[in-house]
Amino acid sequence: MAVDLVIGAQWGDEGKGKWVDILCKNKVATVRYQGGNNAGHTLYINEKKIVLHLLPSGLFRNLNCFIGAGVVVNPVALCSEIAEVRRHFTVDLKKVCVSSRSHTITPWHVYIDEWREKRRKDPIGTTKRGIGPAYADKSKRIGIRIGDVIDPKKRQVWKNNLLELEPLFAECLDKCAAQWTEFDNACSAIAPYISDVENKLRQMIADNQGVLVEGAQGSLLDLDHGTYPFVTSSNTTTGGACASLGLNPKKIANVIGICKAYTTRVGEGPMPTELNDAAAKHLATVGVEKGATTGRDRRCGWLDLVALKHATSVNGFTEIILNKLDVLTGLKEVKVATHYELANETIDYFPASADDLQRCEPVYKVFAGWEEDIVGLQDFNKLPETAQQYIRYIREYIQTPISWVGTGVGRGDALKVPSQS
Ligand code: IMP
Repeated sequence: MAVDLVIGAQWGDEGKGKWVDILCKNKVATVRYQGGNNAGHTLYINEKKIVLHLLPSGLFRNLNCFIGAGVVVNPVALCSEIAEVRRHFTVDLKKVCVSSRSHTITPWHVYIDEWREKRRKDPIGTTKRGIGPAYADKSKRIGIRIGDVIDPKKRQVWKNNLLELEPLFAECLDKCAAQWTEFDNACSAIAPYISDVENKLRQMIADNQGVLVEGAQGSLLDLDHGTYPFVTSSNTTTGGACASLGLNPKKIANVIGICKAYTTRVGEGPMPTELNDAAAKHLATVGVEKGATTGRDRRCGWLDLVALKHATSVNGFTEIILNKLDVLTGLKEVKVATHYELANETIDYFPASADDLQRCEPVYKVFAGWEEDIVGLQDFNKLPETAQQYIRYIREYIQTPISWVGTGVGRGDALKVPSQS
């Protein structure tokens, strides 16, 4: 038994929640390692829909659910998520453990996130959940960790410090009085969930127990390897998991990349294969492409293999799960980008500069579409021939096995791809 990682291969919203729920069956713990309540992992449990923002998706398998040091935790959001889960499901919430090392998102961070987005000439389109400012304060060493924020005295020392260091902090205390009261109450309420998660985790791994580590957002939103500055403020890729959890990289067995059979993106920033036509409408409508956290419409386009190859190499994916293939049914033709045209050159790499990526024109390989309903299909050989060709082509291009294909939203809507297919 070792550690498996599940990581989004695109700009987030690849359907990681569903796959974590399927892949964690033989594990003892699922672990979040970055991001915060900007994430939205949609699950369908006994036909009831639930969107998790902070809690790991293994919650419904009765596993230990860890929130690691690299996550930024909003105590109010955590409390309301726990209450929501309690209202609709019977799960053992004692298994939820939040790292005392994780940093806190306070009303100050939410305030400053909105303040900056409003004033930027090039807004990022953040979720306005205070993610960037919380990570910034952590780096500036003026943040407050979850293990400290539950102590009212330490909270006051931190506030006094910020009053000295941040000119807008007094304004925030004044304008957001109700949010600060709610925050203080939530800080007391989360105390029972806090512990030394990383130590527990390393002990489990040393005892050879299976652990599933789940990424939030996606590889192309990685602070260093994504489309900076149109990224989130954490390392969403494999290295981020090691740093956040104090995880020995040698213990990682599988790095599983989750990729939609097409592309979506929420917020601003370059997306070479974005469409604004009938195909985009099809993908958005059939794929129900609305942000699970903010309700914003997701931008839709064809699968970008140049970007997927980049994500595969940054993360060291050992396999890819191709999700939501059923959404492509009914399209006359289906395309994948194999190269970009940039300044009269054909390139096959993902440029480091967001400006260059913005200027890239995709070069497509075109496949015939299919009409057959494949929702819930569990046998690769029953897929229409063109769908099979599509999967084989992607596998060849990225030189990485495609282990599973998603054929619907339900837990059972999945088919295993034979390696010899
Ligand atoms: P932030 O993480 O709220 O700072 O937002 C930075 C960028 O990441 C924005 O473009 C967001 O739309 C995007 N983003 C953040 N979380 C998610 C997610 O869970 N799925 C998809 N996009 C996300």
